[in-house]
Amino acid sequence: SHQIKIAPSILSADFADFGREIQAIEAQGADWVHVDVMDGHFVPNLTFGPPAVAAFRKHVKTVMDVHLMIAPVDPYIEAFATAGADIITAHVEAGPHIHRTLQAIRATGKKAGVALNPGTPADAVAHLLDLTDLVCVMTVNPGFGGQSFIDMTAKVRALRAMIGDRPIHIEIDGGVTPQTAPLVAAAGADVLVAGSAVFKGGSVANPAPYGANIRAI
Ligand code: DX5
Ligand code: ZN
Repeated sequence: SHQIKIAPSILSADFADFGREIQAIEAQGADWVHVDVMDGHFVPNLTFGPPAVAAFRKHVKTVMDVHLMIAPVDPYIEAFATAGADIITAHVEAGPHIHRTLQAIRATGKKAGVALNPGTPADAVAHLLDLTDLVCVMTVNPGFGGQSFIDMTAKVRALRAMIGDRPIHIEIDGGVTPQTAPLVAAAGADVLVAGSAVFKGGSVANPAPYGANIRAI
């Protein structure tokens, strides 16, 4: 899958060694670094906030893709922008004012992404495309790495048709493996997040499996 970008999720990295994990995945061919921010409220899990993201930034040489699984979003946009996110993605399900949220992300000078849970239709972004640089199609219910892929290829095809020639990425997040990646790539996705499928079998001491896993997707 050649021009497809791979964005490893550091949710599957060694949490005691993020700096070297980020360096390792970039050295092994990662195109972007995907950072999963969870609040224990919008999703049933907790990860990291702006100070951690600012620490990751010192190691990311590619693109830091920050996926906010938090509600509310708006009070934290400035903090994640200042922390050095390149792309800030918010969920349409996180509140009644996703349009305002995307305006606020754009106002920081960062790229704005909008994410859709599996139960949310493609049409939810129809009136947001002029404010959006990336649509993230969740292929798991968000909250945890290592879950099974939920087939959203029909949604991806609908989004690809809706987007037309606008410069908007379609990102897939959850359960991406060498088996599932070709399905979503064929449907029109161009960025694939992968956590467990990238990190499995490797470590900072033995990073070659990361590269082999990235190339296998
Ligand atoms: C799920 C996160 C994903 C997750 C992907 O809530 O948004 O980014 O880390 O992990 P895998 O690739 O293991 O499904
Ligand atoms: Zn994610």
